[in-house]
Amino acid sequence: MGVLVVRFILLYSLCNAVLFVCCVTSMNLRREGNETDKLALLAIKAQIKQDPHNVTSSWNESIHFCFWYGVTCSRRHHQRVTMLDLQSQNLAGFLSPNIGNLSFLRELKLQNNTFSHEIPPQIGHLHRLQVLRLDNNSFTGSIPNNISYCYNLIFVHLANNMLVGKIPPQIGSLPKLQILVVQVNNLTGEIPPSLGNLSSLEVLSTVSNNLVGSIPSSLCRLKKLTFLAMGINKLSGTFPSSIFNLSALLTLSIIQNRIQGTIPSDLGKTLPNLEVFNIGNNQFTGTIPSSISNATSLLKFQFQNNKLTGQVPDCRKLHDLQYFNIQLNHLGSSKDGDLSFLSGLTNATELRRLIIADNNFGGTLPTSISNLSTTLQNFWFQGNQLVGSIPGEMVNLVGLGSLKMGYNHFTGNIPTNIGKLSMLVELDISMNELSGSIPSTLGNLTKLSELFLEYNNLQGNIPSSLGECQSMQALDLSNNNHSGVIPQQVIGLTSLAMLLNLSSNHFTGSLPTEVGMLKNLGELDVSDNMLSGELPSSLGSCVRLEVLHLQGNFFNGTIPLSMNSLRGIRDLDLSRNNFSGEIPKFLEGFVLVTSLNLSFNEFWGAVPTGGVFKNASVISIVGNTRLCGGIADLQLLKCNSRKSHRGYRWVLFN
Ligand SMILES: *[C@@H]1O[C@H](CO)[C@@H](O)[C@H](O)[C@H]1NC(C)=O
Ligand SMILES: *[C@@H]1O[C@H](CO)[C@@H](O)[C@H](O)[C@H]1NC(C)=O
Ligand SMILES: *[C@@H]1O[C@H](CO)[C@@H](O)[C@H](O)[C@H]1NC(C)=O
Ligand SMILES: *[C@@H]1O[C@H](CO)[C@@H](O)[C@H](O)[C@H]1NC(C)=O
Ligand SMILES: *[C@@H]1O[C@H](CO)[C@@H](O)[C@H](O)[C@H]1NC(C)=O
Ligand SMILES: *[C@@H]1O[C@H](CO)[C@@H](O)[C@H](O)[C@H]1NC(C)=O
Ligand SMILES: *[C@@H]1O[C@H](CO)[C@@H](O)[C@H](O)[C@H]1NC(C)=O
Ligand SMILES: *[C@@H]1O[C@H](CO)[C@@H](O)[C@H](O)[C@H]1NC(C)=O
Ligand SMILES: *[C@@H]1O[C@H](CO)[C@@H](O)[C@H](O)[C@H]1NC(C)=O
Ligand SMILES: *[C@@H]1O[C@H](CO)[C@@H](O)[C@H](O)[C@H]1NC(C)=O
Ligand SMILES: *[C@@H]1O[C@H](CO)[C@@H](O)[C@H](O)[C@H]1NC(C)=O
Ligand SMILES: *[C@@H]1O[C@H](CO)[C@@H](O)[C@H](O)[C@H]1NC(C)=O
Repeated sequence: MGVLVVRFILLYSLCNAVLFVCCVTSMNLRREGNETDKLALLAIKAQIKQDPHNVTSSWNESIHFCFWYGVTCSRRHHQRVTMLDLQSQNLAGFLSPNIGNLSFLRELKLQNNTFSHEIPPQIGHLHRLQVLRLDNNSFTGSIPNNISYCYNLIFVHLANNMLVGKIPPQIGSLPKLQILVVQVNNLTGEIPPSLGNLSSLEVLSTVSNNLVGSIPSSLCRLKKLTFLAMGINKLSGTFPSSIFNLSALLTLSIIQNRIQGTIPSDLGKTLPNLEVFNIGNNQFTGTIPSSISNATSLLKFQFQNNKLTGQVPDCRKLHDLQYFNIQLNHLGSSKDGDLSFLSGLTNATELRRLIIADNNFGGTLPTSISNLSTTLQNFWFQGNQLVGSIPGEMVNLVGLGSLKMGYNHFTGNIPTNIGKLSMLVELDISMNELSGSIPSTLGNLTKLSELFLEYNNLQGNIPSSLGECQSMQALDLSNNNHSGVIPQQVIGLTSLAMLLNLSSNHFTGSLPTEVGMLKNLGELDVSDNMLSGELPSSLGSCVRLEVLHLQGNFFNGTIPLSMNSLRGIRDLDLSRNNFSGEIPKFLEGFVLVTSLNLSFNEFWGAVPTGGVFKNASVISIVGNTRLCGGIADLQLLKCNSRKSHRGYRWVLFN
């Protein structure tokens, strides 16, 4: 015991020379030590302004402070506080500078509360501190430089706060630091090269800040680094290729910066353990090296939105792949064979996302895709040069939730068995050269929320079975050769919320009254068809409409008064129809309108002058021969109330 006390005094005086004179007796020391801790805890309590679970109410005289909630003391060091753990208690307030007086503190865990204000620099007095967890709070100000005095720190987690300023270069002098996480703050400046001195560092995350400059090449000295994430910043410059030699790396993610570079040809050899490789949304050039197939632990392979060229190498050894995303590059040669790498992915039995969209891939879709894993959820290959038909074998991919193949040159019919992909939520085959009619089996897709078939050569009626797709929120069948009447089941699909676009087809008949069931719809477009008759007054029930396009049909009659309730409209186009009657005055009250087109109809009478009609650049009324009045900019003749309606026409033409 005596030896311990001596050792303690030595240590103590070394570490706390600032606070206490070296020559205190051990008795004094005991008293002063635990008194100081108690005072510090009470000072900390005093700055906690909200404590909904009353955890600090136990911090009172009735029990020794070592038994207060969240406090752990060391028995060896005479009841000095070694850990303060108040995590996830919805505490609000600020952290008292007196925290610096808990000089035996090893672990400070305040994460997941709402502490605000600055991190007190007195934290630099905590020379024994090993674990500092302040993540998920509302700390402001900068990271105190003083943190570098806490030279026993192993774990520093400051994520999810509102910290500003630079990462202090002094952090580079913490020899034991293994984990440094400062993600999701508002840090600026460059990543200090001194971080390369953190020889124990295993985890470094600076994700989601405003960091600039290039990634320092000194980081290549961090031989123990397993996790390096610097995504969502404003980093630029060339990626230091030496970092690709950190063979311990499991995660390398620099997504969404402005970083240039190439992927070294021996990547699979230098990073054999890599699990997550994410360089998406940067400016990498060159090819994807074939050695990638030797990085057999890869789970996530995300190269999207770079400037990569060439062919995609064989990946048949990457059995564990879950995400494979190479969208938006310049890969492929627009020729057959570009997609031969897909057959190699059939061994990836956990594959969930296969995203090869927006490249230069040509040729046909290999039938081997039917052997891809049934775990596949997102399969996107839109925006390529693919030709041929859509293989019906695709229905083996029963797990598909999102299938996007728009903007290609696919021909032939939509396979009828597509209705077996019962998990589908999104289906996009727009902008191809498909013919035939929409298979009625699509009605079996009860989870379908978005169906995009626009800009093809599809013909025939819309199958009324589409009305079974009761999750549908957006449906676009525009710019095809569809004909017949609009099925009431489809226009009455109450789930439609975003978009119903049937424009530029050959639909006939009237607008079914069921349109009134679209109470949540934002955009309705039936323009440029051959629809006729009067507008159903039920249209007034579509109160969420922001865009209503009815132009280019044979609609007639007056604008129903019920449309008065469509107050959210921004864009209303009734042009090129046979509407008659007066322009309804209630349109003056459509305050959100930025475009109102009433041109080429048979409206007559006075043009209103209030609201939207005050701004001639927002409205168009040309081609209505019997209008008068309105604001001067419209250059119409004054209305003569005594003249008959025919009279207006006479006045205008003579
Ligand atoms: C401080 O330590 C001394 C000796 O161990 C003890 O008698 C005293 O009660 C302690 N005071 C507090 C506030 O814990
Ligand atoms: C905390 O204490 C206050 C006041 O003593 C009391 O009203 C409240 O119910 C307590 N809350 C909990 C969670 O015990
Ligand atoms: C003091 O703490 C004890 C023990 O946790 C608790 O039972 C008591 O209610 C507290 N007293 C006050 C006045 O909050
Ligand atoms: C954070 O705290 C909330 C309650 O305040 C809790 O529901 C949540 O599980 C906590 N999160 C973690 C990671 O502890
Ligand atoms: C503890 O820390 C505060 C603020 O850093 C200081 O004012 C105080 O004198 C210190 N000492 C004691 C014994 O509370
Ligand atoms: C962060 O804290 C908020 C509020 O206490 C909580 O809702 C959220 O779950 C926390 N997040 C994490 C990752 O713990
Ligand atoms: C920063 O830490 C050092 C070393 O512990 C100490 O001397 C200094 O007083 C601290 N600064 C503040 C503002 O607490
Ligand atoms: C980060 O800082 C910028 C500029 O000072 C500010 O506009 C932004 O709101 C801040 N973001 C957060 C999450 O604090
Ligand atoms: C993969 O590794 C093996 C063994 O080290 C080597 O022979 C082969 O050339 C490598 N493959 C590629 C494509 O680099
Ligand atoms: C699947 O993996 C096996 C074993 O590694 C390999 O022999 C085979 O060639 C792979 N198949 C494909 C299609 O890549
Ligand atoms: C799919 O739809 C067709 C026609 O609409 C129907 O005959 C068939 O039974 C449906 N199949 C399934 C699996 O629901
Ligand atoms: C509207 O057109 C239909 C034929 O499409 C016709 O029967 C009807 O009388 C017209 N109504 C008006 C008000 O012109």
